[in-house]
Amino acid sequence: MKIKTMIAVFGVLFSVHALADVTNAEKLVYKYTNIAHSANPMFEAPSITDGKIFFNRKFKTPSGKEAACASCHTNNPANVGKNIVTGKEIPPLAPRVNTKRFTDIDKVEDEFTKHCNDILGADCSPSEKANFIAYLLTETKPTK
Ligand code: HEC
Repeated sequence: MKIKTMIAVFGVLFSVHALADVTNAEKLVYKYTNIAHSANPMFEAPSITDGKIFFNRKFKTPSGKEAACASCHTNNPANVGKNIVTGKEIPPLAPRVNTKRFTDIDKVEDEFTKHCNDILGADCSPSEKANFIAYLLTETKPTK
């Protein structure tokens, strides 16, 4: 590993740790960042901006409709969402608002795979997952 890369990777480690308290979500950001980094050494740190763009971006779903993660989870992941298919409420995704989020690693993988397939027609990449959770960690206030 080149020294510049190592500094960048440790930078991620420390910035992730500086956020403290929502440990599992942070561990997942770190885990997905590492996987993404080994597949693509150019990916050195998660991007909150890209995570936010991804969250709000509309995709043409395999069923032909347009949908974004925000369609059900609202444009603020700290809000209670609403399933556009069943009409049921969805507790907030943001782990600082809903501490039950991202506690069960297997469930996270399953939900990602399911939702990414529903919306993108394929699983999300490790870099998209790292960016996504890094962004969710920054949302702390529900919209009134
Ligand atoms: C059709 C509505 C809908 C859309 C669109 C949607 N989700 Fe979800 N999402 C849900 C529901 C329902 C749950 C599970 C209910 C719950 O856990 O509260 C959920 C839960 C999740 C979880 C589980 C988090 C945890 O550990 O508890 C993740 C991760 C997730 N969604 C990611 C995404 C991503 C990424 C997208 C966009 C690619 C997306 N969702 C789009 C409805 C949706």
